[in-house]
Amino acid sequence: MTRMEAFRGRWLKVRHTMSTMASTTDFSLTATPGRQLPVAVRAEGCRIWTADGREFIDACGGAMVMSVGHCHPRLIEALKRQADEVTFTYRFAFSNEPMLELADLLREISPMPRTWSFFNSSGSESVESAIHLALLYWQLLGQPGKTEFISRYPSYHGSTIAALGLSGTSRRDSFEALLTKNAVAQTPNADIRARRTPADEVEFAIKQLEDAIAARGADKIAGVFLEPITGASGAAVTPPDGYLQRVRELCTRHGLLMICDETITGFGRTGAWFGVEQWGVSPDVITFAKGVTSGVVPFSGMLVAGDVADVLMASPDGFPVGHTFSGYPLGCAVGAEMIRVIRDEGLLENARVMGERLRAGLETIAATTPHIGDIRGMGLLQGIEFVEDPESLAPRAGAAARVTAAARDRQLMIYSCPTALGSSVLEAVLLAPPLNITSTDVDQILDRLSDAIGAA
Ligand SMILES: Cc1ncc(COP(=O)(O)O)c(C=O)c1O
Repeated sequence: MTRMEAFRGRWLKVRHTMSTMASTTDFSLTATPGRQLPVAVRAEGCRIWTADGREFIDACGGAMVMSVGHCHPRLIEALKRQADEVTFTYRFAFSNEPMLELADLLREISPMPRTWSFFNSSGSESVESAIHLALLYWQLLGQPGKTEFISRYPSYHGSTIAALGLSGTSRRDSFEALLTKNAVAQTPNADIRARRTPADEVEFAIKQLEDAIAARGADKIAGVFLEPITGASGAAVTPPDGYLQRVRELCTRHGLLMICDETITGFGRTGAWFGVEQWGVSPDVITFAKGVTSGVVPFSGMLVAGDVADVLMASPDGFPVGHTFSGYPLGCAVGAEMIRVIRDEGLLENARVMGERLRAGLETIAATTPHIGDIRGMGLLQGIEFVEDPESLAPRAGAAARVTAAARDRQLMIYSCPTALGSSVLEAVLLAPPLNITSTDVDQILDRLSDAIGAA
């Protein structure tokens, strides 16, 4: 059957399904044509209730978004309070109180010295801002030729064209014609089949970066983009100790900005405010999104180390690129309240303790099946990779989709990672429950997951 015939067959089926759907037909474009998704009508903590009366446990926060669960009352209150005061300011005309406050609070929790901030509405936008910032920084320092980036595969940095150009993911496939090929170095520990020791893995992955820099020339490269722990595209691929410190040293030596995309790992997910802290590293730029507002309002940002910000802020134009909603007061108010909630409720500590409990439970499940090749991650970001058998560690085709579907049937939501490594498709799923999860909920997640894996 040709691709066109296959498409036509699928299209006829979708058209038929759509014409027979009930009055709740969804006319928004979705990634699940012909399938009516459950309609969420209420959500609280790690639970979502649907219009047909079901109760789901959300163990992945949709796409690793829900840092303190759904509808945290203090965040909702902060949103309402701010909505009564100022809902919008345009960044060229006004500042606003929550923006000033959030930038101050971020200085307290940032792993970088004298941190400055810039705020946007999505992870992709903040990655774009970091790209803008890097090019402007080198122009101001008299090196306008530094316009390229090195990033890694697998990785995901967003769906806008420049951010997707940094990403090492199969999500690129249909848009390759427009994308820059930045993802040229392999992410350490992404290939469990290589069976390298941690020390060898560090050497291997650093050499990948060194080779990429040598091939292009450091005078052309503005920076290195990386996720401290590779999230959506790798199911919590965690670097060996020493790797991030070596990347820092390499960036300093070659004159490259070290830009950490903490869209998933930021705001407590690993048990520290930011993932890089787990290795005591201070990058030049950090981007964050998702967990900063736990889904209450779309919001994101970029942290910039003082000595980089100084260069920008000494120029007459400062940092002139952004988006209409950069510095959005509602997002800033919820983000500032998030920092207070994480502090007041001791959630970094809870993420560490509950992360250990979740990890121990996953290890127990893994001990009963030969099809789990790796459990990895930190804190409340834990990934599972499925394999055929412990000897070959070959990816078990279709396992991630089957386990995710079996979990959904048991009203447990987990994240299926669309993961590619070269021409191989990796089979992995990700768990990212809220930082304020209880031990009872962790145990319930583990029970349903174990059942789902058994069934799949
Ligand atoms: C590491 C990372 N960076 C950037 C993004 C893009 O964020 P957004 O979808 O909010 O644009 C994502 C989204 O999954 C991500 O995981």
